[in-house]
Amino acid sequence: MKKRILTGDTPTGKLHLGHYVGTLENRVKLQDQYEMFIILADTHALTTLSATPELIKNYTREVLLDNLSVGLDPKNVTFFIESGVSEIYELAAIFSMYVSHNRALRNPTIKDEISSKSLGDQFSLGFVNYPIYQAADILCVKGQLVPVGVDQEAHLEQAREIARAINKLTNSNIFPEPEALIGRVGKLVGTDGNPKMGKSLNNTIYLSDSTEEVEKRVMNMFTDPKRIHPTDPGTIAGNPVFTYLDSFAKEKDKGKIDEYKDRYEKGEVGDVEVKKYLAQVLNNFLNPIRERRLEYESQPEVLDKILVEGTAKTKKVASETLSEVRSEMGLI
Ligand code: TRP
Repeated sequence: MKKRILTGDTPTGKLHLGHYVGTLENRVKLQDQYEMFIILADTHALTTLSATPELIKNYTREVLLDNLSVGLDPKNVTFFIESGVSEIYELAAIFSMYVSHNRALRNPTIKDEISSKSLGDQFSLGFVNYPIYQAADILCVKGQLVPVGVDQEAHLEQAREIARAINKLTNSNIFPEPEALIGRVGKLVGTDGNPKMGKSLNNTIYLSDSTEEVEKRVMNMFTDPKRIHPTDPGTIAGNPVFTYLDSFAKEKDKGKIDEYKDRYEKGEVGDVEVKKYLAQVLNNFLNPIRERRLEYESQPEVLDKILVEGTAKTKKVASETLSEVRSEMGLI
């Protein structure tokens, strides 16, 4: 029997290059080897203050398209909507009894989001609770491996604690302890060099951006701030232009990139030339993704079918898990 992967996205925005190297690439690579479930976590999206019903609906579709466009095959992968599998809520309610209030607030990613989004004390109970829902997302199908970006590691730690607690309590092995699988680049810097890439920071390149949008974004990218003239020796380390080149160039372009690096360090090439090259590399990378997206966009009934069938299948698996949990826990 194949091992199970569960991973997914919160539909609060379109997916970008950071998602690609953090998780999508691993999804594509592992789709044949594992039985894969991908959640569109629309209930999670409600923890974001800016999420309106309109936006959630729209981004759920966009995020599905993002996943399909990078080459995930709906024949291999079960896509489902969180709110369509109400067993997740029941499971999360049970899980929440075994997570202390303090533990929930100590989750480093939650703490980080509270400070980076300046939430102060203006966050919901559901927001602090969302890692517990995430544990239920994963464990409702007994997911063993979870390809995610590095910011999600804290949530996986919490999910493992929950799995252990329930197994211990019931003296059973209902749940596996899910492992995070972090991408080749766990966290991609923003186009402005900010360690975080995000919609609100306006420093992203989306998988669905047009050729022109990518060119514009790249031309506005930050480089070595100390370099004023093309003849000044430049620094590669921490320079977003080179980070992106290293992350997205094809194997056959590596020689050319080494050449650019060498010339850059010696002050023999201008930022503009390297950026033009990066725009080309990124557009070459994105072209097949754009093509697949167009194909799926023209078939809305196929998208609906993927979600309806995937959600029904997941609901069945989750209800079996829930029955087991109920019975082991004495909840009749
Ligand atoms: N919290 C994840 C994110 O923001 C999305 C997500 C929801 C998820 N449920 C999940 C990821 C379960 C992995 C497994 O990116």
